Amino acid sequence: MHETREIKTHGRTVCVHVDPEPEREGRPALWPTVGEYPIYDQFLYSTMTTDHERNERFRAALAKLAPGRHVLDIGTGEDLLWARESVQAGARHALAVEVIEPAFHKAADTLAALDQRDLITLLLGESTTLQFAPKADVCVAEIIGSLAGAEGAAAVLTDARNRHLVPGGLVVPHRAVTLAAAVRLSDLLPGQPVAFAEASLPYLQSIFDWHGGPFDIRLRIENPDTDALLSDGRPVEVLDFNGELRTEQRTTVRLAITRAGHVDGVLTWLNLWCLPDEEPLDALRMRTNWASIYFPLFDRPVPVEPGDVLELTVETALSDDGIHPDYHLGATLRTTGGEEHHGSLASPHHGGPFRAHPVYQALFSTT
Ligand SMILES: C[S@@+](CC[C@H](N)C(=O)[O-])C[C@H]1O[C@@H](n2cnc3c(N)ncnc32)[C@H](O)[C@@H]1O
Repeated sequence: MHETREIKTHGRTVCVHVDPEPEREGRPALWPTVGEYPIYDQFLYSTMTTDHERNERFRAALAKLAPGRHVLDIGTGEDLLWARESVQAGARHALAVEVIEPAFHKAADTLAALDQRDLITLLLGESTTLQFAPKADVCVAEIIGSLAGAEGAAAVLTDARNRHLVPGGLVVPHRAVTLAAAVRLSDLLPGQPVAFAEASLPYLQSIFDWHGGPFDIRLRIENPDTDALLSDGRPVEVLDFNGELRTEQRTTVRLAITRAGHVDGVLTWLNLWCLPDEEPLDALRMRTNWASIYFPLFDRPVPVEPGDVLELTVETALSDDGIHPDYHLGATLRTTGGEEHHGSLASPHHGGPFRAHPVYQALFSTT
């Protein structure tokens, strides 16, 4: 059973349904998506600095690409991680940029205590509005979301390639892809209420405060039950940081249902390559700080059988900040019996409706 907690934000009281069970290693948990908002704190940074699966890949790429080079670290965070790693790998110089002020100040303290501090320059601000000289040979930017492009990687790195990198300069990571598969939300959280983890409430509060009120925030599922997948996973968003990088895209895939069950939406997750020729990090099947994102599509679960097909279109378009994409999903489920079910969801980065879909009506109420 869920319990209810209140959030007061901008003169409104929002009742949030929470799962009172404490989070446990490996237990599924529902959180708001957090990475695409300027609300990072020490806990969120530490989930990244301790992410072995992720860090090994970034380290290997920098060991290969940084020696003797000028490196630009966009979004260095409070730990100055990739700037330090680049210099340790033999970079000539690393320029680190961070837009969140408290994180910048912590990074500045870290820098002041480093032996190699003369090789690193730290700047406060957004890479898209700053000018740097000289241009970098390598840009490292861990601004990848659980939904690959949600943190604005396409716009930020298009700008970095155009203005901050030498011709032929390289970006780390190399490629990020979002995959999608058909699911039912309650199957991802077996034996648990569909309710937010209690520990996630301060983040929900910070995001609503930042935005100026509540909205239907994307739903982050940690440790989802992978047995819940009813189809194979197909790429719905592709970001080639060293190739043709598009800030807006539209992809249609056919998700073939492989077993009987009920579908009410899709689960999406990240595949990430730091170097072109490696096995990608798979956020659904590996232990990493990236989780999966669930998007509701149908008002109620629709029964499906093998042979049925969910045709899914995912479209990204830049939001009004020109950096973070809004996502639009449209779906048609065609059953072997000849039925058609249509569903759609607008998932803007910020704003948009509140409690528009039954899932959000079940997660939130207002007084
Ligand atoms: C996912 S965290 C990564 C932190 C650290 N680099 C790491 O890998 O552990 C992304 C960081 O990038 C910052 N950021 C995102 N876009 C930025 C931009 N265009 N310019 C400067 N900082 C940015 C965010 O504020 C956040 O601190």
